[in-house]
Amino acid sequence: MFKQQLDTLAAQHLTRRLTPLQSGVGPIVEMAGRQILLFASNDYLGLAMHQEVIRASVEATQRFGAGTGAARLVSGSLPPHQELESALAQFKGTEAALTFSSGYLANIGAIPALIGQGGLILADRLCHASLIDGCRLSAADFRIYRHNDLDHLESLLAARRRPDVP
Ligand SMILES: Cc1ncc(COP(=O)(O)O)c(C=O)c1O
Repeated sequence: MFKQQLDTLAAQHLTRRLTPLQSGVGPIVEMAGRQILLFASNDYLGLAMHQEVIRASVEATQRFGAGTGAARLVSGSLPPHQELESALAQFKGTEAALTFSSGYLANIGAIPALIGQGGLILADRLCHASLIDGCRLSAADFRIYRHNDLDHLESLLAARRRPDVP
């Protein structure tokens, strides 16, 4: 069964492979023995290789360990996380902030917390996959409209407005 599914994906050129790097992250990376310019990274600010960030993360790892041990709710919240969240809340002028370890986790964590049963989510078909997953995880009514098709979006909204249409 898996083989068949993999063959179908391969026939559609949808097989995905990890590309090994021989260097750290940055605007220029080493891949397959060549130095190449990387335009696909999210490290826009170059923080991943920033000396100050590396120094602070090594110091925090030495002091607090290489993992939290368990969920923060279960075994306690470490000072670096609290400090980061306080600083972010202050920067954004909000009551509080909650950090996630990736964009994917932020989307699947935040969306179901923000909307649930009785809510309606209308999303573009080409939204990031993690947004789609977050919407699916919520108990809201979730509809996808064709990419950039405002007529399709309008028709989904209109259908929702009419009480006779489920
Ligand atoms: C809108 C959006 N959400 C989520 C993600 C996923 O982020 P991560 O790779 O940190 O899980 C991305 C990644 O580019 C994104 O562009």
